[in-house]
Amino acid sequence: MSTGKGTIKLGVLGSGSGSNMQAILDAIENGSLDAEIVLVLSDNPEAYILERAQKAGIRAEVIDCAGYKTRFPDASQAAVAEQLKSAGVDIVCLAGFMRLVKAPLLEVFPQRILNIHPSILPAYPGLMAWKQAVQDGARESGCTVHYVDAGMDTGPTILQAKVPVLVDDTADTLHARIQVEEHQLYPDAIRLVWKDIQSNASTS
Ligand code: GRF
Repeated sequence: MSTGKGTIKLGVLGSGSGSNMQAILDAIENGSLDAEIVLVLSDNPEAYILERAQKAGIRAEVIDCAGYKTRFPDASQAAVAEQLKSAGVDIVCLAGFMRLVKAPLLEVFPQRILNIHPSILPAYPGLMAWKQAVQDGARESGCTVHYVDAGMDTGPTILQAKVPVLVDDTADTLHARIQVEEHQLYPDAIRLVWKDIQSNASTS
């Protein structure tokens, strides 16, 4: 694991479409993020994120969760940690990953696992945060990139972006507006975390 020098090696974990992974890739391709996605892992064999990764020539693999639908067993987390480590990953990005990460993975990548969540945390943690915001009559929502700890959407915030909730918003239109912001925010947050790793390395 590097201490903040050179091109950042990223590992991405996702369960769904992978538009955030795509945004990170786009930022790499347009030169605004000096990084490389070296491994993409999904707990869902059908997830489009795997297809996107394969199309981009990135190693993409399915996580074996031992048949559990929502749990992320310790042994699976330890195996994922090993895969990420041996791929030389510096920062792990959760991008629509639907299982809770715990000690076996957190301990191998302390302060190096990030997540993107579609609300201004601490508001609306958990599932379908955009729907929660619309149902709650919120005037504003947005997205947060935060460090991952053992809680659900509870780790320290890195960056946030706000969007208005419009009177005629449905859950879907709000989510689409939030995703536009997410796609800017994630590359920005990775840059910021890398800078932080660099400055911590130079002062230690
Ligand atoms: C995003 O809205 C993200 O905030 C949430 O899950 C969604 C994933 O979207 N955690 P995608 O798979 O990156 O398109």
